[in-house]
Amino acid sequence: MNLKEVYEGRRAINFFDTNKGVEAGLLKDIINLAVLAPSAFNLQPWEIIAVKSKEGKERLHKFAAQPKILEAPVTLIIVGNKTGYEASNPTWNDMLKLMGGDKEKLAGTQGMAAGLYGTSNENKLKFAESNAGLLAMSIMYAAKSLGVDSHAMSGMDFEGVRKEFELDENKTVVMLISLGHLDESNTLYPRAYRRGYDEIVKEV
Ligand SMILES: Cc1cc2nc3c(=O)[nH]c(=O)nc-3n(C[C@H](O)[C@H](O)[C@H](O)COP(=O)(O)O)c2cc1C
Repeated sequence: MNLKEVYEGRRAINFFDTNKGVEAGLLKDIINLAVLAPSAFNLQPWEIIAVKSKEGKERLHKFAAQPKILEAPVTLIIVGNKTGYEASNPTWNDMLKLMGGDKEKLAGTQGMAAGLYGTSNENKLKFAESNAGLLAMSIMYAAKSLGVDSHAMSGMDFEGVRKEFELDENKTVVMLISLGHLDESNTLYPRAYRRGYDEIVKEV
């Protein structure tokens, strides 16, 4: 599948085949491909909860009452870290290596990141959601390229999900992505209209 086919083939599938799973190795391949997504300072301020068990799905369904949650073999809770620019983020260790071990230079860069993203709640949220949103899109395309269908969802009680899965207040639930395979006994609606260049681009 080339990239154009991946873009054209990905659909939000409403109907998951409950008899077809996504085996653990394949899920790992999807995520390990998707993490090539870009992020600010390469900080990767994200994490994922893979909800696979019946009990986990029921807990999630209480706060995201969509049948897909119960039907799909796995649903990913995509989580953004609003304070992922802080020095405790382990990706800074890699940055330090790239900087030849220059701790002063690293501290300067960390200060710059904190100044950009840590100065208001709005900035913190943008930081978490923009980066984790790109990961989410990357997951859906990676899945499609590896033969797995997906469905993104934001119809949920975000705070309810955060608390149910014991995420700290500096974490924000960005969206859910169910993964699996289309139940072929159902037909998807045709691809809906997309606004194109002439409608959405303003040249200045
Ligand atoms: C961030 C986001 C949130 C969404 N939330 C829901 C949702 O809660 N429930 C749902 O049925 N579909 C949801 N969708 C799926 C969209 O309705 C779907 O992507 C859109 O209609 C375009 O269809 P396509 O993905 O098949 O091209 C969501 C999609 C995105 C990207």
